[in-house]
Amino acid sequence: MNGAVETVRPAVATLDPTERLLRSCRGESVDRPPVWLMRQAGRYLPEYRKLREGMGFLEMCQDVERAVEASLQPIQLVGSEAAILFSDIFTPIPAMGVEVDFQPGPTIADPIRSLEQIDKLRIPDPRESTPYVFEILRVLRAELASARIPVLGFAGAPFTLAAYLVEGKGSKDFAALKRMMYAAPEVLRALQSRLTEMVVGYLNAQIEAGAHVVQLFDTWAGLLGPAEYREWVLPVHAEIAARLERERAPLILYVNNGAHVLDEMLESGADVLSLDWRVDIAEAARRVGDRASLQGNLDPCALQQTREEIFASVRRISEAAQPARGHILNLGHGCLPDTPVEGVRAFTDAARALGEEQPRGA
Ligand code: CP3
Repeated sequence: MNGAVETVRPAVATLDPTERLLRSCRGESVDRPPVWLMRQAGRYLPEYRKLREGMGFLEMCQDVERAVEASLQPIQLVGSEAAILFSDIFTPIPAMGVEVDFQPGPTIADPIRSLEQIDKLRIPDPRESTPYVFEILRVLRAELASARIPVLGFAGAPFTLAAYLVEGKGSKDFAALKRMMYAAPEVLRALQSRLTEMVVGYLNAQIEAGAHVVQLFDTWAGLLGPAEYREWVLPVHAEIAARLERERAPLILYVNNGAHVLDEMLESGADVLSLDWRVDIAEAARRVGDRASLQGNLDPCALQQTREEIFASVRRISEAAQPARGHILNLGHGCLPDTPVEGVRAFTDAARALGEEQPRGA
């Protein structure tokens, strides 16, 4: 499926944003890297703050019209070239029987600590428990069809979801989770296994609803050392990668703070590895070569720079990523609420400016 040698390449100058993203994911030649930003819909946009006024975050995720609007804003306002489903990694969790509140990060009133609690976790058909997620994707796909802008779906990875479910809230070191890993491994294993079932069904339903690409967010997996990552995280990623409908939608795997587990990320079989800014992307590109594409990895704070500096940063990252079979321009983590809108616009403009240079693989 991946890395097939093509005998006839389409004229790279005519790529539309959907083809550019899909071809980059699969390591086929493109005119320039596609560009979008993690957490591109959000509080740095005055238009988002207005849309969100007087409404809870979860409520907004269930309001198809507003969620579609939030997903479209970064396309219309800052020139992003892919729309990501407006939702959260915790959207599918309440239907499992766990109460989640946002303040503003996810909090769990009754943290999961026992096998009895895990036995009670339900895995309903996501089309019935979160129909709005798939409706948002269908509407986005239809609205963006004429502009040929691709639509991304996503889910939180089991380890990161478990981190919050066990801890009850965000944390710097997730000590409760790590205690469980060492003191009650069978409990964490059961929880991850239940979450894996949920994630596979949820992502495949997003692909069925029209997601061109799906991204798995494992924000906290980088807390583990390489041996623990190999035991607790890699098999879960590999299972998810194997069970997704990837002929229809490639998989992007994001691990924050994952510079030390790049080889393990590669072993998961994901099509694209999304890297944070602590990774030397030149070295990562040499390591992955034709085995995976890369995504990233500008420091979100670097969007505070001047337009010229942002252009220079983007050119540097893009050149450094050349040895990888494909590259999607993105940040190393989510766009921060205090990001200047001008900085985001400069970032997407810088990607388009790369199109005037030597095409990759030509
Ligand atoms: O990328 C996008 O624009 C799409 C939407 C998206 C959100 N959350 C919307 C959101 C995505 C892909 C996420 C992923 C997510 N959510 C992750 C993984 C990626 C990462 O950032 O590490 C995690 C760990 C969460 C959990 C979460 N949700 C936290 C910790 C917070 C609070 C911190 C914050 O930045 O606000 C949220 C809330 C959240 N998720 C908001 C948005 C737009 C803010 C809600 C608001 O107040 O308007």
